[in-house]
Amino acid sequence: MTATPRDASATIVPLGRNLGAELRGVDLTRGITPPVIAAIKRAFWANPVLVLRNQRDLGPEQLIEFGNAFGYIAPHSILQYRHPKYEQLSYVTNVKPDGSLDEYGYAKRATDWHADGVFKAKPDCMTFLYSIAAPSVGGHTEFTNMYLAYETLPEDLRRRADGLACFHKRGKGWRCTAPPPPLTEAQKATGEFEGNVHPLVITHPESGRRSLYISAAHTSYIVGLERKESDALLDRLYGHAIQPEFQYHHKWQVGDLLMWDQRCTMHRAGGGAPRDEKRIMMRGMIVAELDAKRAAA
Ligand code: OGA
Ligand code: MN
Repeated sequence: MTATPRDASATIVPLGRNLGAELRGVDLTRGITPPVIAAIKRAFWANPVLVLRNQRDLGPEQLIEFGNAFGYIAPHSILQYRHPKYEQLSYVTNVKPDGSLDEYGYAKRATDWHADGVFKAKPDCMTFLYSIAAPSVGGHTEFTNMYLAYETLPEDLRRRADGLACFHKRGKGWRCTAPPPPLTEAQKATGEFEGNVHPLVITHPESGRRSLYISAAHTSYIVGLERKESDALLDRLYGHAIQPEFQYHHKWQVGDLLMWDQRCTMHRAGGGAPRDEKRIMMRGMIVAELDAKRAAA
């Protein structure tokens, strides 16, 4: 069919036992063409944490072109990290514009397990990070596989979870220890951050697999349960979901372009980078549905 990638040389190399893969043989600096995007999408449906390495010197316009190939790129809610010229992109960084250490970016940002944007009416589907500076040790991004988290639940718990829904609000998670910076008055006035309810178990529109959809940072409670019962059930699901066997920890190299599927993973910043080493990534978040079915056809 039409979507067969011309660079059939692209190969997938697993990075972790249950999550994480590298797609080799793709060089975005040579062009973000439909066959290349098709190859990436096919790899991505089977590998929800996927990295392309050595994508040297991609500029913001190329990253936007890359993101646009997957859907609508939603601007991030933390305004001070937005790219000054391109609102679709923002920075994940431990350095302030004046070169001094950004304490929030260094030690607090995204340290609780979460999926991006679960609190939105239309949550993010995919996020990508592009490494511009990477520390020599630490600073990993940690991921866990929420398909496996769901599929390996004891049957009674799985059945129970199937019928439940959660209320999510930005930074109001039942286990949020480091909330994101406050919203501006203008952001609050939009009404977009009042929180939303989503099923506790979601079916991935492309793979058809079911996954647990919780986020320590943003999931406030299970609808219809007493708070104590909700906390206890969330704790149980969460403890199961973050077991080490389900995780992959990504050690960054400059030029890594890593993308992950928000609908079947959780992630967090692992910390531990030296204070005097830069850790800078450029980031984009895709909200609209990614059209896998056509890519896979
Ligand atoms: C985030 C995030 C991960 C990291 O900023 O939303 O998840 O490793 N960052 O910095
Ligand atoms: Mn995140």
